[in-house]
Amino acid sequence: MTKLKVYEYPHPILHQKAERVEKVDAEVRRLLDDMLETMYHEVGVGLAAPQVGILKRMLVIDYERDEEHPGHPVYMVNPEIIWTSEERVCGEEGCLSVPGQRAEVERFAKVRVRYQDYNGQEQEVLAEDFFAIVIQHEMDHLDGILYIDRLSRLKRNMLLKKMSKEREHKK
Ligand code: NI
Repeated sequence: MTKLKVYEYPHPILHQKAERVEKVDAEVRRLLDDMLETMYHEVGVGLAAPQVGILKRMLVIDYERDEEHPGHPVYMVNPEIIWTSEERVCGEEGCLSVPGQRAEVERFAKVRVRYQDYNGQEQEVLAEDFFAIVIQHEMDHLDGILYIDRLSRLKRNMLLKKMSKEREHKK
């Protein structure tokens, strides 16, 4: 497996729409493996293909992994939200492409998602709580949307200012 480069804001690829994956073949599986390894390495809970520079509709999620638990990776190819709850929730989100920052974002509390798994089999899942939030965050990446695009202009500008300050400090 290979660790991939994670693109960060304001790289333009993060604002492009990803294309459907035609077939889940060996090449797609290798990319999913590489994405998972990259996500574990960067200590993220989700990663979408555009974040590693690949404009394909695929993502990996694993939010249960820690020192004691080996993790339960979920691979989603061509995910589609087919139902959303009326109820919405606000939760704090971060993103490997917006390093060091976090902000509250409103999402649907529950979503039903149809997707193809690691073997190309069609699956459906009813996601709730944190899993639902992560899915919506990662699926936004497939449409070129970052969580900071969902903030008010004021909050977004404050966050971006803070991020550029912190980047300056690192230089
Ligand atoms: Ni993200």
